[in-house]
Amino acid sequence: MKFIPLVLAACLEISALAADAPPAEKADAPAPVMAPVPAATTKPKYEQFHVNTSAIALTFDDGPHPKNTPRLLDMLKERGIKATFFLIGKSVATYPEIVRRIVSEGHEIGNHTWDHKTLRAMSQEKINEELQKTQDAIVAACGQVPLIYRPPFGAITSKQQKAIMEKFHYPSIVWEVDTNDWKSPRSIAKVHDTILKDTHAGSIILCHDIHFETVDAMPSTLDELKAKGFQFKTISEMIKLEADEVQAVAAGKPLPGATPPAAPKAEEKPAPKAEDKPAAKP
Ligand code: NI
Repeated sequence: MKFIPLVLAACLEISALAADAPPAEKADAPAPVMAPVPAATTKPKYEQFHVNTSAIALTFDDGPHPKNTPRLLDMLKERGIKATFFLIGKSVATYPEIVRRIVSEGHEIGNHTWDHKTLRAMSQEKINEELQKTQDAIVAACGQVPLIYRPPFGAITSKQQKAIMEKFHYPSIVWEVDTNDWKSPRSIAKVHDTILKDTHAGSIILCHDIHFETVDAMPSTLDELKAKGFQFKTISEMIKLEADEVQAVAAGKPLPGATPPAAPKAEEKPAPKAEDKPAAKP
């Protein structure tokens, strides 16, 4: 009983804050078209998702690339597949029209720093600059504030991660399935085979759409993943799915996205006594 008014007060305070958002106080900052959505998670880092649904997250780093990113977008569109793009700030500033296309076709954008330097060795102030400059470029290009980031090379300390979560509300998104598609010799087969062999429900798959071999590997890779029954979700969708599944399990409810049981529940439709004998199977 005691905490209910507190929770209510906290909710009211949050809605009051949202309602009081200053309309044009920050004249120097570009006005986002979409309001920032509060972080959907308090988990600081994800390498994979713990889900029972056959959902996976395909991620493409270091773009946008003027030729390969549009080619990849065509392939994804043709198959109705959503992915996540971790973009480099300076390339966002160079190719804003590709950034707009990524967002308009329903994919997610993550912050991948301004120029892809290792964050580990940097001061927190410099890290904040890298991420802020990139966030500003993304907002200027497409009007969306990113909700996630990926440290270049996956290199980040827990202390830095915590500071980034506090300032930007970004969880660190790394990966589980590594195509190593940046290493020479690059090949279509290596990308395809690694993904098909290593992917399971909840996997975060790391690819780079700046390499044409990676993009060339996608049609067969995507079709075969689909044939295996995988569903493609963005990172933010996966974060929500994982949280929803945890809640459903705690509440004893069926998992979201899971196929509902074919048979009607016994308590809803009690079978008449006459039908107690086993039914003949067709
Ligand atoms: Ni990268």
